[in-house]
Amino acid sequence: MFESMKVSEIFPTPLWALDLKPEVHGPLNAKLMRAIEAMTSPRPPIRVGETWQTDPYIHTLPDFAELVQIIRGAAKGALDFLQVEYESFEITGCWANINPRGGLNTRHTHPNNFLSGTYYVQVPPDANRIVFDDPRPQAMTLLPRVKAYNKFIGNEVSFEIKDGRLILFPAWLPHGVPANQSERERVSVSFNIMFSAFTETMSRPLWRGTAGPRVEPG
Ligand SMILES: [Fe+2]
Repeated sequence: MFESMKVSEIFPTPLWALDLKPEVHGPLNAKLMRAIEAMTSPRPPIRVGETWQTDPYIHTLPDFAELVQIIRGAAKGALDFLQVEYESFEITGCWANINPRGGLNTRHTHPNNFLSGTYYVQVPPDANRIVFDDPRPQAMTLLPRVKAYNKFIGNEVSFEIKDGRLILFPAWLPHGVPANQSERERVSVSFNIMFSAFTETMSRPLWRGTAGPRVEPG
C-alpha cells in the first residue's frame, strides 16, 4: 500500500553516559572517597531515606581538580554534540551525595542551569539505577500496554549507573534515585553547568529593529 514508512524522532532528549577506563576510575574514585570521607566526618544524624550532601562548591577544592577536568571535558563534548554556540561555560555547583541504606533522591530538576550530571564514585550492585521521567506531560494521557519495551512508549527510563560512569543530561529533565537497598553506601558527585556571562553573551535579541533609530544594547 505504502512505498515506505519513515519514523522521525522529533524533540529527542539526550542523555550522555561516559565511562572512564578502570585504570583511571580505580585510583580516582579511591582518592575521591578519601576526600569525601574526610570532609563529611563526623556525619550528622539524618532521618531514614535522607542523603548526606556536602556544600555545593567542592569543585573549588584541590582534591576534586581531576574530576573537574573530566566534567569539563564531558560538558564540552555534550555542547559540541548539540552544536551550541557559546563563549565559555562553568560549573556553577558541585556536591557529593552519600546515600546510606534506604537513602534516595526524590524526583527533581536543576533550575537555572543548562546541563546537569553526576559522576559515580561508589555504586553498590543493587543500587545501580537512576530514573528519568518523560518531560512531556501530554505523553502520559494514554499509556497502552506494549508487547515489548520501546523508546516511543513509556513514562520513565531507568538507566544503569556504575563506578566510573559520568552521566550528563539537560538540567530541566526530571530525575530521581531509588532507595539504596544495599548496606554499602552509594556515593556520587553531582554538578550543574551553565554558560558564563549568560545575559551578556547569549540572552540578547539576535535581530535588529526595522523602524526607529538604531539603539545599542546597554
Ligand atoms: Fe539531580
